Amino acid sequence: MTQAELTNQNHKKTRVFSDWTPKGGIGKSSLAVQIAACLAEMGKKVLLIEIDMQRNASKTLLSESPEYNITHIITEKVPITQAIYQARENLFVIAADRDLDQAANHILINGRKAYDVLKRAIDSLTGYNVVIFDHSPNWTTVTNAALRASKEILVPVELEPYAIDGIIEMFEKLQDEMYDHELTITGIIPNKVDFRSPMTQTYLSQVTEEFKEKVTPYIRIDKQIPQSQAYKQTIFEFNSYSKSAKDIRKLVDFIINSGDNDNA
Ligand SMILES: Nc1ncnc2c1ncn2[C@@H]1O[C@H](COP(=O)(O)OP(=O)(O)OP(=O)(O)O)[C@@H](O)[C@H]1O
Ligand SMILES: [Mg+2]
Repeated sequence: MTQAELTNQNHKKTRVFSDWTPKGGIGKSSLAVQIAACLAEMGKKVLLIEIDMQRNASKTLLSESPEYNITHIITEKVPITQAIYQARENLFVIAADRDLDQAANHILINGRKAYDVLKRAIDSLTGYNVVIFDHSPNWTTVTNAALRASKEILVPVELEPYAIDGIIEMFEKLQDEMYDHELTITGIIPNKVDFRSPMTQTYLSQVTEEFKEKVTPYIRIDKQIPQSQAYKQTIFEFNSYSKSAKDIRKLVDFIINSGDNDNA
């Protein structure tokens, strides 16, 4: 087998997710970190790529700001392997930095070839079972490039008025922007679910009726999520028996079962 065939075969086995919704503060970074941590705990080799200059994911997982980051990869200053930092056993991170807008400008100026740099960089990696992009809520050329590098999408949603409208609008945006790239919707993830709130069950039923088997097990609202972040820990390190840790495990089972058997 040639090196190219080997790389191609390896990449086929890697599931590449974007965790994206244009709505801010809904739990994208929190879920990306916890899903990645849970998969890593199960023995999967996971790479979390942060494309948000708020850096919430890498602040939780890394003790300091790394020398090389996602901007260096997109602007082709360093090969992708040089910007990967180990955060935990089986869990690796490419961090963002405040210079992420330089990467967005670089793509804007250099066009098609620059949009594909991330995809080619990920294709060149071997040995990872899962790659997850943690997106910013804003749409930039980096969002576009990361979605083009992804094969699947996870969409966190809060159960609130107009949640369904928001998801449909987002899918329309994806259709407009990604008409030439196939993205599988792997899961719509109800997050911060609070059954003390009288309308929660109604909204959950409506979302399930609309999106059916795409709706994943829900993640309950749990103050231990922000608490764990304050201690720079994953929820499994902070309290593996917490309700959100239990919910994340169910979610990860759903994600694993949604793939082919020889994938993650
Ligand atoms: N299940 C949950 N229970 C309680 N709090 C949660 C839960 N999920 C996320 N949060 C909290 O909600 C806040 C926003 O979460 P997070 O930063 O993950 O959202 P985001 O979608 O990545 O935001 P942004 O759009 O700004 O990137 C954080 O304080 C986080 O700790
Ligand atoms: Mg975020």
